[in-house]
Amino acid sequence: MTAYDVSDVVPSAAHIEQTERYAARNYHPLPVVLASGDGAWVTDVEGRRYLDCLAGYSALNFGHRHPRLVRRAQEQIERLTLTSRAFYNDQLGPFSQALAELTGKDRVLPMNSGAEAVETAIKVSRKWGYLAKGVEPGRATILTMRGNFHGRTTTIVGFSDDELASADYGPFTPGFASVPYGDIEAVADALDDTVVAVLFEPVQGEGGVVLPPPGFLQELRALCTERGVLMVADEIQSGLARTGRTFACDHEDVAPDVYVLGKALGGGLYPVSAVAADDGVLGLVKPGTHGSTFGGNPLAAAIGHEVVGMLATGEFQERARVLGDRLANRLGALVGGGVQAVRVRGLWAGVDIDPELMTGREACEGLMRRGVLAKDTHGSTVRFAPPLVATESDVDLLAGALEDVIDVRVARRAGVTPGRPSPA
Ligand SMILES: Cc1ncc(COP(=O)(O)O)c(C=O)c1O
Repeated sequence: MTAYDVSDVVPSAAHIEQTERYAARNYHPLPVVLASGDGAWVTDVEGRRYLDCLAGYSALNFGHRHPRLVRRAQEQIERLTLTSRAFYNDQLGPFSQALAELTGKDRVLPMNSGAEAVETAIKVSRKWGYLAKGVEPGRATILTMRGNFHGRTTTIVGFSDDELASADYGPFTPGFASVPYGDIEAVADALDDTVVAVLFEPVQGEGGVVLPPPGFLQELRALCTERGVLMVADEIQSGLARTGRTFACDHEDVAPDVYVLGKALGGGLYPVSAVAADDGVLGLVKPGTHGSTFGGNPLAAAIGHEVVGMLATGEFQERARVLGDRLANRLGALVGGGVQAVRVRGLWAGVDIDPELMTGREACEGLMRRGVLAKDTHGSTVRFAPPLVATESDVDLLAGALEDVIDVRVARRAGVTPGRPSPA
């Protein structure tokens, strides 16, 4: 215990100034300085409370400091935290089995961040291409989708079409091609003999919660099987209950060849990621060919195992469905009245604000003033992904705050007093 809690004496402005002065400015945060969190809610250093509708980009599906996860992490911290994979530990086996069973795959390869798991999927896909498919050495191609977001390594930003993410970071890794998201014919045309994998997000989260056309996942599954190409689903943001199912691919009853997982796998406490696949793919990984000092450490494995256990009951998936339906109803009513489009899957929504009204950033600033934290993407889109432990009244509060932000702008433009009939 320190003599005083620094948050008592350092106000938001000082924290912001210090962060901007000493930390690289690779983000453009909202001007709110958070000091504590509990469930779906966070509190800033001045004691103001906010509903967290970003939820760590879905890393906080189970909310802030879920008691079951905190308990398990604390127990493990008291026993053993890091061994490296030079030795076995008593947590990795149980975690691996549980995650393999959850994904329906033979085995898993644990890593830390999402980007590392994507890199792992790229490496194993190429290895599979050379050793199993028989692609000429050095010729393997991975097909990606436009509008993708798979992380921030140089390889990954090299196949992103977001110029902000890739500018001045080249030269980039060769061996990637891209097609428009959800365009099955473009995928079919692009599948030449060098293509080893199709890497895709079943919902493009950073793209603005973009959903594939209905049937696309099934068609992609069939095409990959027919053409002998790995279907690699990046479920880092869409997976682990966010969309109302354990995996977003479940919405079309599709099992990809490779699952790429992260974010919520660490329960919002710790970075935990993994790739899951059958022996035909992950069995090709031999000692010394891939690894990470922290990947599969006992603390990560203990937390990840608890997360898998929490998903087993279906309770969080069900909450995402129930709350998502409620959110969809409220947001849907805004279309045409300051909102151009709304896309919802489970408790995950992308709202395209009319750009003539305000930017997504301005909408988020307005929401923040009303006690709701959300994040904009691509100019005028705002994403909402509250923790799955949120309540019905939290969802109503979120929707009400957005209505209010929009009403104020609409009224300002029309020169009238804001207001709308209260929802039934
Ligand atoms: C679909 C997807 N893949 C990969 C990543 C990268 O994960 P990380 O930031 O943990 O490296 C993200 C992060 O937002 C993501 O949404």
